[in-house]
Amino acid sequence: MTSPVSGFSKKNKQEKIQWLVENYLQNDPIAKQTLERYWNSDTALQRLHDDFVENTLSNYYLPFGIAPNFLINGKFYAIPMVIEESSVVAAASNAAKFWSDRGGFKAEVINTEKNGQIHINYFGKPEDLEQFFLLVKPKLITGIAALQKNMKQRGGGLLEIQLENSTEKLAGYYQLHCTFETKDAMGANFINSCLESMAEIFESEVEQYEPFQVSQQFPEVVLSILSNYVPNCRVRAEVSCKLKQLDGKKVDGKDFAKRFVRAVDIAGVERKRAVTHNKGIMNGIDAVVLATGNDFRAVEAGIHAYAAKDGAYRSLTHASIEGDTFRFWMEIPLALGTIGGLTSLHPLVKLALRILENPNARELMQIVAVAGLAQNFAAIRSLVTTGIQKGHMKMHLMNILNQLEATSEEKEQAVEHFNERAVSHNAVVTFVTQLRS
Ligand code: MEV
Repeated sequence: MTSPVSGFSKKNKQEKIQWLVENYLQNDPIAKQTLERYWNSDTALQRLHDDFVENTLSNYYLPFGIAPNFLINGKFYAIPMVIEESSVVAAASNAAKFWSDRGGFKAEVINTEKNGQIHINYFGKPEDLEQFFLLVKPKLITGIAALQKNMKQRGGGLLEIQLENSTEKLAGYYQLHCTFETKDAMGANFINSCLESMAEIFESEVEQYEPFQVSQQFPEVVLSILSNYVPNCRVRAEVSCKLKQLDGKKVDGKDFAKRFVRAVDIAGVERKRAVTHNKGIMNGIDAVVLATGNDFRAVEAGIHAYAAKDGAYRSLTHASIEGDTFRFWMEIPLALGTIGGLTSLHPLVKLALRILENPNARELMQIVAVAGLAQNFAAIRSLVTTGIQKGHMKMHLMNILNQLEATSEEKEQAVEHFNERAVSHNAVVTFVTQLRS
């Protein structure tokens, strides 16, 4: 059994790899080589990546793809996407092309308010805490003046602080609910710094407040942190067209629209379907969020919580037929940044933002929401017509061929062979085996 290691973070990269290979990889030289193969020969670039997190051993590549032809509010975008799933970029590109011929996507930022809380324990009289809060509130605000200076210059900052009595949820639980505008920054560091500073001021003022001395009941800060639930930082994306414009070679537009709306309605009432439906939306959202160096875990957590906001987990998208018009739309919370974080550090993130013509956070919210809506459109379109496996497995063909270490010639022949045939792992193995014999 491997014994615990101390001072691991102090070891240099070679030593860390050596330790790992000795302790977990049976001294396998190939394992060591695999880690080293992904090092970048540009040492400055490698150092930059090494410093993103602790104990970096190597780099982990994901494809950086592009989905062109996204017409959003009358402007064409080529959207960078970072994702491993083979059919996502192709699906986004198809949906983009489809809607660019039908007026494109409309997107609109509804609001941009972020929030965070100072969570408090207090078992005394609520009136004492309320009075104390009124007294201390101005001190909390002036106490973060220096922290807020730059953000205020950019038009952002703390918006409001409210004391919320949450004792119905949990005995003795109060919170200072603080709202913020963080402009083009995602704002996590700014918000957390403000909250921690205010929490310190709050605690130091508590000690001097007489009614608490008298009752011997002192409020106590449990923790202070931003919330990734941002229902007031919301964006809407939509498409619409005449039913006739949905006619396809083998598809009647009206019939297609009815099936489509039904599929979305099912995800609106059935959690088992809603989760997968929304996962398809996140395929598009996460890919752009990652490409632009944003925090996809924060985005995921916030969006899924929003999908369950009325107590049941539901589809994020909605669709309707009104007269002869098909409508498809979505509203989601999105806290994104185009400055700060990785945005000015990671060369590919910088490039992704440049491809998007250096959007501000509001524009990026619109682009990301559209990518999610497009992805959902593509998935539902396939699901209610051909099914997804045909397209999915076509895109997966190259992965199977790579697993089989197919040569370029074998790949070419396989692509031609499977052009009109169903792709399955077995079928590809059989085909390649036959070629080789
Ligand atoms: C696969 O990654 C995503 C889908 O399952 C989404 C959906 O079912 O709507 C195709």
